Amino acid sequence: MSAENYTLRNVNIERPSWINQNRIVDNAGCLQILELPFHFNRIYYMHGVPDGAERGFHAHKSLHQIFLMPKGSLSLELVTPTSSQVFELESGSPRALHVPPGYWRVLSKFSRDAIGLVLASEHYDKDDYIRSFDEYVNWYNEVMRHES
Ligand code: TYD
Repeated sequence: MSAENYTLRNVNIERPSWINQNRIVDNAGCLQILELPFHFNRIYYMHGVPDGAERGFHAHKSLHQIFLMPKGSLSLELVTPTSSQVFELESGSPRALHVPPGYWRVLSKFSRDAIGLVLASEHYDKDDYIRSFDEYVNWYNEVMRHES
């Protein structure tokens, strides 16, 4: 399923979307360019993830993120109480994924060489995290009650 086909039932939450990277190749190599839909305050990257390990298992209340793979691949599942969608991220693909706030995420299937780069709209704030799925469902329903 593509991001464009993705519909959330009864909700106005912003959808995840692919951002195409511009790629300029010449004799001196490749330049990959990404124009961002928000100003970012933080960069972090994941690497050295052991075979079979999974990360994430949280949602953010207000953070916007861009995920891209300078190297290797991983699977990113974005879940709401009414939906689930899996995005395959890989370095060969000239696109990045914008993950808006409000999605429970699970990262899996890291290739051994994976470097998962994340551009984040805000500095680290532990209070922006929801780390219990039950709490996430309650938060989501409360937010959606006010949005609908
Ligand atoms: P977390 O965001 O849960 O990582 P992942 O979703 O990849 O599993 O972060 C793991 C730990 O690192 C957690 O204790 C919070 C800490 N952390 C920071 O201190 N600053 C940061 O910018 C990030 C992303 C995490």
